[in-house]
Amino acid sequence: MYTPEMLASIQKVEATRQVRMATEPDRMSAEEKDALLNAYHPDFKTECFTEIKVGPNKGDKAPTELAALLHGHSRIRHAYINLKNIDYDVDVLVIGGGGAGASAAIEAHNAGANVLIVTKLRLGDANSMMSQGGIQAADKENDSPAQHYLDAFGGGHYAAQPDLLRKLVLDGPGAIKWLSDLGVMFDKESDGRMQTTHGGGTSRMRMHAAADYSGAEIMRTLRDEVFNLRIPVVDYTAAVELILDTDGKAAGAVLMNMETNEYLVARAKTVILSTGGAGRLHYQGFPTSNHYGATADGLIMAYRVGVQLVYPDSFQYHPTGAAYPQQIFGDLVTEKVRSIGAILANVDGEAFMHPLETRDVSSAAIIRECISRGKGVSTPTGFAIWLDTPVIEMLHGEGTILRRIPAMYRMFIKYGIDMRRVPILIYPTLHYQNGGLKINVDGSTSVENLYVAGEAVGGIHGRNRLMGNSLLDIIVFGRIAGQSAADKYPSVSVGKLALTHVEDYEHALNDADVEKQTISPMLLPSYARRQEYDRRRL
Ligand code: FUM
Repeated sequence: MYTPEMLASIQKVEATRQVRMATEPDRMSAEEKDALLNAYHPDFKTECFTEIKVGPNKGDKAPTELAALLHGHSRIRHAYINLKNIDYDVDVLVIGGGGAGASAAIEAHNAGANVLIVTKLRLGDANSMMSQGGIQAADKENDSPAQHYLDAFGGGHYAAQPDLLRKLVLDGPGAIKWLSDLGVMFDKESDGRMQTTHGGGTSRMRMHAAADYSGAEIMRTLRDEVFNLRIPVVDYTAAVELILDTDGKAAGAVLMNMETNEYLVARAKTVILSTGGAGRLHYQGFPTSNHYGATADGLIMAYRVGVQLVYPDSFQYHPTGAAYPQQIFGDLVTEKVRSIGAILANVDGEAFMHPLETRDVSSAAIIRECISRGKGVSTPTGFAIWLDTPVIEMLHGEGTILRRIPAMYRMFIKYGIDMRRVPILIYPTLHYQNGGLKINVDGSTSVENLYVAGEAVGGIHGRNRLMGNSLLDIIVFGRIAGQSAADKYPSVSVGKLALTHVEDYEHALNDADVEKQTISPMLLPSYARRQEYDRRRL
């Protein structure tokens, strides 16, 4: 239910609708975008970043909340871990139960490896499951991987690692086929061809979707496959440190049972980290569209063994987080809503930007409209912008919203807001970690036998990611990591297990005079009840 002020503003949105539908705002020039980002994008708020004091990225900047975790105490600092007492012994240890981890496990298993998945919540409790709008792949006649590459490279500010992006787009059509063959029910045209749409910054319609629960459909299928193949999954068990052997090669992980806090040792010939993103660190106080477990754990553990971070200062604020009502503050309103016609409008009903600029540009423009131009709609949590959703049905006919974006409809109708009849309020929400761990094109890292896949990887997309390229990267690089680990493990003989890197890192922090106020990895967000327990343990 909207407030009287909101209803008054809606009248203006309705009064200007026909004009907005008839005249699409121009796209911004490169210079306009740069100036806008510099002034309003959260990545450019230098006071919210802290210098990293130790490790391979010493001297680089990271958000203060992430730097605190990189500078934190290990969870096992005071624990006695008996590395001779092996609880799990496998060829491939997959840490993380999202789409990348599941894809990696399936491929490694199919190549003959003895695989174990450990996950701090349950298989599928991950950002992959929450992804809505779709997955990009250039598999239509008017499209090509080269075109896909150009869109993503430009959208990412020419900062993507070229070999990774090349692999992503080349393997895109194969990823869609793999998912379809496993049973993902993508939306189809009446003639059986894939239904595809645009996303922000795409020059071709290459977004494949399952309505607006694409991630849930993909994750459902991957999870079924993991279960069908009888790949062992240990739920509610977090990795808290990687284990190396005395040659400095990855050799397993210290695990923690999330219910009993008991430590366990997993020895592995190869390790795949697929622990996802960091939205629950709520950089700069932003709400997040991310899953409860998105706390940057993999970044912390891999950094302690020496893996470099790429762009630790680059994050994605999705332009359309739900801004009202408060119960869904920060939840994702998929970009697909704009892909199929919804228009952004300010408090006076004015279209202040093209609705499908890239995400970083769109978010910065929304923040400028609210904060600096005073054209936001006042809400209990701040300001917001209208997303004029009734336009969708005016353009494509009645029933389109229920057919194409049913999850969005359900999200708002629960609070009495019928998005077919009235616009909805949005504001940027912390959505994605552009940066992350540095990998080679086969998923390997600078630490032998350690592979990384999914959102924990940095550099695939550069400094901004286009919609639908994350679902694609978890599949492409998840599969690659699984195949690479399976190729590698037969030649590995694990040496004596060691955790000396944890002590070394702690010494380095002491030498750098870093004030350690927290323990890491965080595992659950700071507002979880578990934190009380951790505080007592410090
Ligand atoms: O807007 C969305 O549906 C988000 C998709 C993505 O991050 O790729």
